[in-house]
Parts: sequence; C-alpha cells; structure tokens
Amino acid sequence: MARRSLASLDPNHLHGQRALVRVDFNCPIQDGVVTDDSRVRAALQTITYLRDHGARVVLCSHLGRPKGSPDPRYSLSPVVGVLEKLLGSPVTFLTDPASPDTVTAIKRLPRGGIALLENTRFDPGEEANSTDLAKVYAALGDLYVNDAFGSAHRAHATTSGVAAFLKPAVSGFLMERELAYLGEALEDPARPFVAVLGGAKVSGKIDLIEALLPKVDRVLIGGAMACTFFRAMGLETGSSLVEEDRLTLAESLLGRSGEKLVLPLGAMIAARLSGDAEVREVTRTEIPVGWAAYDIDSETMALYASIIQEAGTVLWNGPMGVFETPPFDRGTRAVALALAEASKGGTVTIVGGGDSAAAVAEAGLTDRMTHVSTGGGASLEFLEGKSLPGVAALDEV
Ligand code: 3PG
Repeated sequence: MARRSLASLDPNHLHGQRALVRVDFNCPIQDGVVTDDSRVRAALQTITYLRDHGARVVLCSHLGRPKGSPDPRYSLSPVVGVLEKLLGSPVTFLTDPASPDTVTAIKRLPRGGIALLENTRFDPGEEANSTDLAKVYAALGDLYVNDAFGSAHRAHATTSGVAAFLKPAVSGFLMERELAYLGEALEDPARPFVAVLGGAKVSGKIDLIEALLPKVDRVLIGGAMACTFFRAMGLETGSSLVEEDRLTLAESLLGRSGEKLVLPLGAMIAARLSGDAEVREVTRTEIPVGWAAYDIDSETMALYASIIQEAGTVLWNGPMGVFETPPFDRGTRAVALALAEASKGGTVTIVGGGDSAAAVAEAGLTDRMTHVSTGGGASLEFLEGKSLPGVAALDEV
C-alpha cells in the first residue's frame, strides 16, 4: 500500500506550519562528539525543504537504548552543533516534550526555524507506544513527517503511535527514497538479480534467504554462516562458528535452492581470531580441526566479483568475514569494490544498512553505490517482506 509523501503536500501550505519530523539521529557518539554524521546528513533534504518553505521544523529522534529515563550519556545535545553546521541555521534544543514551555518555544520559532527535542527514549512511553505520549508529541505539530527509515521497524510512540493523532502523516524524502530503492529491487529488479548475504548466523538471515530465494537469480553466501552450510554438506569445519541447531534447516535450504545458492569455494582460516595469527587460505574441504574460517578466500572473491559484474541488480547485506579484524576484512572489501565496479557498468547496487553500509563507508565507496540504506534492522525486515509499523501508520495515498 502506497503512503502519502511530503512531496504530495502543497508546499504553499507549509508556511508557518509546525512540522513534527521523526528522524533517526541514532548516531555513534564518543565523549560527546558525533563520530559519524551520515544519518544527520541523510535527513537534510527533508529538513531544508520544510525550512525553505517556511515551516517551523520540530525534530525528534531516539539515541541508543537508555532504559526509559533521562541519561546524559544518551543525550541528543551533541547533535545540535552538527545540525547547525550542516544547515547553517540555529537549532533550539528542547529537553521536555511535555512541558508547556516547549509548546510555547515551538510556537515562537520563526518561520523556517528549527528545534530538536531530547531523546524520545528518555520516556518509557516511547517504546511502549503509549497513546498519552503519542498525544504529547502530536500537540507539538500541525503535520507529521516520518523520515526515520532506520527506526521504521519499531512500533513506538514517535515512529508510529503519533501518526494516529497528527494529520497529515506523511513520509519524508529519505523514507521515500529508501522504500523506492528497496521496494523496486524486490518488485521489479533488473536481471540477473543477485543477493550477497553474509553475517555470522544463518538464524539471523533465514527469513531473508527464504524471502529472497523466489525473487533472485543467485544468492552468494559469505560470513560465518557459510560454515553452517558446510557442516550441513558433511564437511569438516574445525572450530568455525557453526549453529548446530540450524543444520537441518541449512540442509533443507541447500536441497530446495538448487543452483541459486552459491557457497564460498574456500576460506581464510586461522587458529585464533587475531590480526597477528598465522593465516592460511584453504578450500572448503580442507578446514582442519582446531582452525576456524574467518573470511572467504581469494578464489571466492574472484568468483563473487565476476557474478556481481554480470548482474543487473545486486543487493548486499552482511559482511563476508570478521571485517573489523584485518586481514579478515579482505572478502568484505572485495565485495564492496566489486559492487562499486559493477555500478560503473550500470548495475543497480543496493547496500542494506548496518555492517555492510559501515564497510562500504570505511572503504570510501558509499558514493559509488546506487543506494546505501540508513537502516540496519529496518532494511532487513523490509526485505524479509515484513510490514514496517512506521510506514504502515502513515496516511494512505
Ligand atoms: C538502528 O540503529 O538500527 C535504529 O536506529 C534502531 O535502533 P534500535 O535497534 O535501538 O531500535
């Protein structure tokens, strides 16, 4: 079901209106400094559009997982300076959404003025999706814009509940773009459609594999989850991470997927996970007892790169190895580079959020992808075919 978007509202009617905008500013912060502002940047289009059309922009977001009460470690205050710099406009920081002073401060914002509310999760009603709290937020706006794709899988007061009490309730530009790219990949992909799936556990990706199998031409498997498949094939996996309780499932997937499921040909192995451990490259039939697979091998990197190069659409979710511990980052980097190269040739390349997005950013390749999602859990649930509460709550077209 299509949802109403900010672009569909008459821009002339935004003037003087209070726009309550749910953004996802769940950014990494260290010692009071935002260390990655990409989520703030991703929301700028919506914020500047509203500002430039004279709306009073009231931003709200969660940050981290405080336990339902104020905790200075999770304050959004470090984001204020980042926003001011990116927008070139002052930002008023408001700590209590329920205070009459907040209501007054928002009414007094100049047209085009911007305010940021404190972490929505400082109130237990946020995660409980409390109606009372949803009404508190609804009272702060004349319209509701949800641009927090990264939180759209959460049915919380500011991501979902508030939309029942504040109309119109529309998607922002980031939300729209995310849904368009991820949705089109699933509905009408340029073929061959190749999914590259990695990560530690089959259990975390099983719904995704099941949902994608009927739609894709190939699924390239990487990460430790490949070892659960290896074991299901009867291979020795040494001390690699294997989910014993998922072996039957892995076996059934192998049986059902035929040629579609492509497993690594070999692995980079070590006796322990450490950057200075002895590393060997072996085929998948040669993993010795006492050694563990921590990355895909060079032959698999080359095979996956050639399949990616031939693809019309590539969807990537999950690292190929323990990429935070070099040299086991090589497989993930090779896939990132293969996607960047394929983009050049016209392949639509879509990177699910979370670890794969972080790996692409670290390799400096973000701009070379067709789309890098800002949502980790949200993109996973969307691609699994689940309805996202933050989207479902918005007005229908
Ligand atoms: C994320 O970073 O995936 C989103 O901001 C959601 O955060 P959460 O998992 O704490 O709900």
